[in-house]
Amino acid sequence: MYSKKVMDYFMNPRNMGEIENASGVGTVGNAKCGDIMRMYLKVNEKGIIEEVKFKTFGCGAAIATSSMATELVVGKTVQEALKVTNKAVAEALDGLPANKVHCSLLAEEAINAALWDYAEKNSIKIEGLKQPKKDVHEEYLEEE
Ligand code: FES
Repeated sequence: MYSKKVMDYFMNPRNMGEIENASGVGTVGNAKCGDIMRMYLKVNEKGIIEEVKFKTFGCGAAIATSSMATELVVGKTVQEALKVTNKAVAEALDGLPANKVHCSLLAEEAINAALWDYAEKNSIKIEGLKQPKKDVHEEYLEEE
């Protein structure tokens, strides 16, 4: 069963949408369930994440976790945002059923992918940031 918080974030997602001219965009997908998540970041000149938006084509937990992830990273530095793990996202939602943990992993990966894009665009290195396993950006755009 989903917690009340998961249901709330699924029914009333925060920060849904996109950011024009985003500083970083990351799109990730889970091949097994076919769900896709895209995260947009706006980072200011001090390296603080000012705005975060998401678009998710996926299950209720994927929508809830991506929405919660946006709230957890906004106002943070890019370095701090890296520490927002799927566990933190799941905890902030008062837990997820075991078979939905991969949805929160997608949220963590989407943040990472957006940070990676930001770092690449600005030719900077973010300590501890790993290259996303698979950015489905291109595929996703073709589908649109
Ligand atoms: Fe795959 Fe939720 S079922 S992201």
